[in-house]
Amino acid sequence: MARNVVILVVVTFIAVVVQCQKTDNKVVCYYNSKGYFREGQGRFDLPFIEPALQYCTHLIYGYAGVNAENFKLVPLNEQFDVTRDHYRHITNLKRQYPGLRVLLSVGGDADDVDTIKYLTLLESVDHRLSFVNSAFTIVKSFGFDGLDIAWEFPKTKPKKIRSGWGSFWHDVKTTFVGDSVPDEKEAEHKEQFTALVREVKNAFRPEGFIVTITVNPNVNSSVYYDTRALIPNVDFVNLLAFDFYTPGRNPKEADYPSPLYSLIDRKPDENADAWVRHWLENGAPNNKLILGIPTYGRAWKMTEDSAISGVPPFKVKGAAEEGPYTKEPGLLSYPEVCAKISNPLNLKGAGSHLRKVGDPTKRYDEVRFNVSDVSNRYGVYAFRLPDENGENGVWVGYEDPDTAGNKAAYARAKGLGGVAIYDITLDDFRGLCNGEKFPVLKAAKFRL
Ligand SMILES: *[C@@H]1O[C@H](CO)[C@@H](O)[C@H](O)[C@H]1NC(C)=O
Ligand SMILES: *[C@@H]1O[C@H](CO)[C@@H](O)[C@H](O)[C@H]1NC(C)=O
Repeated sequence: MARNVVILVVVTFIAVVVQCQKTDNKVVCYYNSKGYFREGQGRFDLPFIEPALQYCTHLIYGYAGVNAENFKLVPLNEQFDVTRDHYRHITNLKRQYPGLRVLLSVGGDADDVDTIKYLTLLESVDHRLSFVNSAFTIVKSFGFDGLDIAWEFPKTKPKKIRSGWGSFWHDVKTTFVGDSVPDEKEAEHKEQFTALVREVKNAFRPEGFIVTITVNPNVNSSVYYDTRALIPNVDFVNLLAFDFYTPGRNPKEADYPSPLYSLIDRKPDENADAWVRHWLENGAPNNKLILGIPTYGRAWKMTEDSAISGVPPFKVKGAAEEGPYTKEPGLLSYPEVCAKISNPLNLKGAGSHLRKVGDPTKRYDEVRFNVSDVSNRYGVYAFRLPDENGENGVWVGYEDPDTAGNKAAYARAKGLGGVAIYDITLDDFRGLCNGEKFPVLKAAKFRL
């Protein structure tokens, strides 16, 4: 009898633990207010957010910026965020979703004027104090639950994969626009950033505000993030481990933008798994790491010289045309991609559909790949070969509900803290693909 009770207690205890672990998983939803300003079907009006929130544990509002003169945290769109009360509208959503935590994010590559200020700020104790105090005031007065620090560090230099393509490398250097200026004080900046995060945490602690960091795409964690020193001062870390290859960085060569695992012949640290392993190996606990999953694709123009099979990497001529909703060359939101796909035929030329090619490499490296229910390694792509005039070819590498679900399954298998969906305004929030709203977010949530 007593034994049965003991067994029952043990079983209940295990059930409770399992339950807790499950409900503990975070689904961090990025909301980039840029979505509000898109046109037509792309416009993400506030009411669209609500169907997403049942799946999100955290909502991250992007983005605030830094004032280059006084180093205060400032709204990037004062008129919209403050005068028109958008900050408030967002934090008020907590009334309907009491469990939801809403954070304000600073940086995130959205504050693109004079980005050197992100380094200058770190270098002075007074500047940091100015930042910390202003961040505290804004978080508190608008009802946010905390701050997400998506610091704008210099990016790694884009690298080509294939050599022997003539003057290609030279072209990239002259056409690439971005922060690839070498940072001579990177070791100091790393240390000073750790200090900044600690100072934010100390200021926020009395109010119980949350502090998180977001590692932006193509920022080298080993250069700027002292993982061991940072971890005690953050609630969690969002790893935006995607966009390794983009038309902006790599206008002449297309490749899988956001692979989960390393591909043959590529740099071994440009994939999501490498980022996760780097943080784990440097002392981050699994449950403080959140794996970022994009809701969009990166698209290039195929040429006559591109691989006819569609298998990357291959030569391309820059970013593909803008999508009808996002209106940004080289970027296609999930609903923009799904509208272009047709399964059966690979037709050529304008107006015809793109052929989808699922992850082709399930069988590859099965030995190392023993995290059970994860089968996706590189991602999915779709393409259309150019017509007789060499025009209208498109290749897009993207995330769909299957690949997003697989990344979530990876996060689960690795015991990570959860996933971060980047961002919900580029997911299919109207249900245009098949009537279901937020299919990428939902797929990730349900495989977590
Ligand atoms: C990141 O920095 C480390 C150390 O400086 C270096 O070994 C590594 O190659 C860098 N990774 C990338 C992707 O540039
Ligand atoms: C995969 O399997 C090998 C050999 O069976 C083992 O050494 C390794 O730790 C496993 N890896 C993971 C991530 O479970």
